[in-house]
Amino acid sequence: MSHSFSLEAILAIARNNAIGLDGKLPWHLPVELKLFKEVTMHHALIMGRKTYESLPGILPNREHIIISQSLNSIHGVHIATSVNHALSIAESLAPQKVFVIGGKRIFDELIPHCNAIHVSRIMREFNADTYYDFNFQGYTIDQSHSLHDVETGTDILYQKLII
Ligand SMILES: NC(=O)c1ccc[n+]([C@@H]2O[C@H](COP(=O)([O-])OP(=O)(O)OC[C@H]3O[C@@H](n4cnc5c(N)ncnc54)[C@H](OP(=O)(O)O)[C@@H]3O)[C@@H](O)[C@H]2O)c1
Repeated sequence: MSHSFSLEAILAIARNNAIGLDGKLPWHLPVELKLFKEVTMHHALIMGRKTYESLPGILPNREHIIISQSLNSIHGVHIATSVNHALSIAESLAPQKVFVIGGKRIFDELIPHCNAIHVSRIMREFNADTYYDFNFQGYTIDQSHSLHDVETGTDILYQKLII
């Protein structure tokens, strides 16, 4: 797959591979939400329908491409029926970067095609109903820094991984 944009993924994973609970994130970590905003701002996002429904609304200054076979058109977002359809919509928007933001099946299908992965490793275990077993092998750490969520006392290791 070759594109005119950089295809990247961004995900937050707990120690036990938890990523989601009851249609939301298993945690409330403002420092991690801030990081997500900084990394993705002014770029396009590809997401599954449930991840879209987990958002508080349309995120400002980012094109949203939602993969779904059940949704009809929604004002302000693009609907794709498959990952390939999502990539062709992204191509037509001509962004500099496109971020794959989940959930699980979208990560499974698109992470192998991403040239960078932004991972927040949440240094705790959480109850969850959605897990993602990300394989860190084969990547080089391009950037790495620690974050600390003061409110919950949670440590987070952010890493940008490249092929
Ligand atoms: N920690 C993280 O980084 C992170 C990131 C994202 C999401 N999450 C969490 O994970 C949960 C949601 O993730 P999820 O994996 O359950 O769902 P999801 O991938 O966000 O959404 C699943 C839906 O997307 C559509 N879909 C997915 N793959 C498709 C494909 N290849 N072709 C066509 N349609 C496709 C289908 O929609 P239709 O049923 O409409 O056809 C499917 O039911 C939430 O709890 C969310 O908060 C966490």
